Parts: sequence; structure tokens; C-alpha cells
Amino acid sequence: MPYAHITGWGMAVPDRVLTNAELERTVETNDEWIVERTGIRERRVARDGETTSTLAVEAAWKALRIANLKPTDLDLIICATSTPEYIFPATACLVQDKLGATRAGAFDLLAACTGFIYALNMAAQAIRSGSIKSALVIGAETLSRFVNWKDRNTCILFGDGAGAFVLQASQEPGGVLSAVLHSDGSGGDLLSLPAGGSRHPATEATIRSGMHYIHMDGREVFRFATRVMAQATREVIGSAGLQLQDVRWIIPHQANLRIIEAAARNLKMPLDKFIVNIDRYGNTSTASIPIAVCEAVADGRLKAGDKIILTGFGAGLTWGALAAQWSGPLLVERKVRPAFYRLFARLRSLLRRMWLHLEGWIWGRDKV
Ligand code: ACO
Repeated sequence: MPYAHITGWGMAVPDRVLTNAELERTVETNDEWIVERTGIRERRVARDGETTSTLAVEAAWKALRIANLKPTDLDLIICATSTPEYIFPATACLVQDKLGATRAGAFDLLAACTGFIYALNMAAQAIRSGSIKSALVIGAETLSRFVNWKDRNTCILFGDGAGAFVLQASQEPGGVLSAVLHSDGSGGDLLSLPAGGSRHPATEATIRSGMHYIHMDGREVFRFATRVMAQATREVIGSAGLQLQDVRWIIPHQANLRIIEAAARNLKMPLDKFIVNIDRYGNTSTASIPIAVCEAVADGRLKAGDKIILTGFGAGLTWGALAAQWSGPLLVERKVRPAFYRLFARLRSLLRRMWLHLEGWIWGRDKV
């Protein structure tokens, strides 16, 4: 049975930084309160033209370059997102087209902030079963488009960004070792985006009452999160056959520094074993774990061979954890030039669109 190795990684965040000081000017809050209660100092906010798929594609190109993989080598693209560009088509399909990943199946996965762990596990299982050889797993968000910027309970928390991993099959032991996934729909109303789906389609009334924004019972979500993060971490360490002391890094979902501190206390582990960057990005939902991983690799903390635990929770409610042995890129001779494939993908997409149009015109005319 092949192993599923993480052989490429990349992140993308908008360059627009929104600081706590700026938020002080729009809602009744202050930097001291936000830092003390959440650990967040600033977050990134997408500009006009920046979307969930554009951030996802930027992160994906970086991951493909590190993995030395062509987009046409990909068998599968999973985009975990809570803020897809549309209900359909899937954001993963927009990414597939923009990359020119002509052989890949593509779908979105909705498990809120736990989505990246769910998606990574799905892709790893597909590789381990032998049905595919490579996959691109993305967590991408533009939460700023769903936040009520007048609601101080939520607007201070969220940010935009994307992170992507390439997974590849290899006979070398390592890569994704084990995962645990959980859900409890009875807590669905604690964190939701009530309107825009089939239950409450968008109307003037839903917009007037702000049902198209994120709604959250912060205190209850906080209580839930502090309970499940450590629990899932312990579970996955057990199912991977590891001991707590074998783990080099824990990379938690970045929702609130106090939640991460509580998880560290529950696990009786020092906070410096946790990768934390919430101060600079806030809660980027599905993107938070891969972004934290990318930064830890870039600054040399995370090294090949390290055993890591990814752990998260989110709306649904969902929670879970994944154990992996960090691999680094597979050794390959060839060097992939992303700029070339980028141009190819653009041209291909344009030609495909023209062809579909032409085909519709020809068939449509025949029918009449
Ligand atoms: N600035 C100043 N005061 C504030 C602010 C703010 N931005 N927000 C709330 N307050 C006030 C409240 O009104 C309250 O005042 P009151 O006592 O007069 O009523 C007081 O501060 C304390 O409010 P709490 O809600 O008890 O504050 P708490 O310490 O719980 O922090 C927070 C609130 C940060 C939202 C916290 O509960 C939290 O992080 N919860 C988890 C949220 C989370 O992780 N969500 C994402 C889940 S992942 C996903 O799927 C997207």
C-alpha cells in the first residue's frame, strides 16, 4: 500500500493589512481588548478582484513548484472552503481551470474550519487506496465578504487567505499517518451563515436582517473548542501509534490564542510546541492550518522527519485531528516551470470557452 506524502506547500494572503487600530475607528472596540481576548493584532482582507479562487490558485502554484509537479499530473483537487465563490460551480473547479489541471477531478468540501483536515484525510485515503497518485488540497477563504463589519463580536476575528498542499504516493513510509474526524450537528446554530442557502434563499428581508452574515455564539463556541482540540489531538496520537513526546509540532486551527493555550494546558504541553501566527492573520478558517505550516517550514522550524499533529474545530459543529510525518519534496530530476504552465492554462481555458460557445451555437442551430 503506498504512503501519502506531503511534497508541496504554498500560501497566499492579500497584501491589504487591517489592524486593530483601524477597527477601533469603525466599531466600539480597542486593540487592548482584542489582543487580550483573542491574540489577534491584524488580519488580511481581500481587495476587489481578489477572490477565494484567486488566493487558492496563488497558493496552489507555489505548492506545485515545490513538489515539482505539473498541473496536468494532478488526479484530484479538493478545495476546503467556508466561503466558496458560488454555491455551484465548486471553487475547486475554478481552480482546476485556472491551473489547467486537465486530468483532475475537483470538488469543494464544507466542514468549516476543520475542512482542511477533512480534505487532507480524504486525499490521503484516495492515494493510500491506490486509486490516485497525486492530489492538491487547498484551504481558501474570503471571510471578509461574509463578516458584518458593524458587529464587533465577529468582525475582529476573521481574515482572508489560502494554503495548499500537494500530496503524492510513495512507497517510502511517512506522510499522513492517521486522522480522526468528528461532527455534532446539534450545535449547528452556534456558528452559521443563515441565508443564501435553500432554507433561506436571499431576499430583501434576509438582507435587511443581516442573515447573509456570519452569526456566532462566541462563548459557546469557545467552550466547545477548548474541550475538543486536546481531545482530538490525544485521539489521533493514539491512532497513529505515537506518544505525546514523539510529536515535534502541533499546528492548531488559529481561532483564538486562548483556545490554543487551553489545548496546551489540557495536553500538559508547553505552548512553544504549538505553531501560532494568529496575531498576524486572525482566523482564516480552512486556510489557517496550511498557512501556519508554510510559515513554520519557511522559517526552518518544521523539518523533514518531524512528526506533526494538525488539529481543528469549526462550524457544523466539526472537529478533528491528523497526524503526519513531514516529508519535504520527493527527489525528482525534472524542474517544472510554473510560468509556462500558467500561460498554457490561460490559453487552454480561453480556447475551451470559445469551443463550448461554438459547439453550443452549432448544436443549437441544428435543433432549430
Ligand atoms: N471589543 C470590545 N468588547 C467586546 C468585543 C469587542 N470586539 N466583543 C465583545 N465584547 C464585549 C461583550 O459585549 C461583553 O460585554 P458584556 O460583558 O458587557 O456583555 C464582553 O466583551 C465579554 O464578551 P464575551 O463574549 O464573554 O467575550 P469572550 O472573552 O468570550 O471573547 C470571543 C469573545 C473572542 C468571540 C470568544 O468567545 C471566542 O473567541 N470564541 C470562539 C470563536 C471562534 O473560535 N469562532 C470561530 C470558530 S471556527 C469556524 O468555523 C469559522
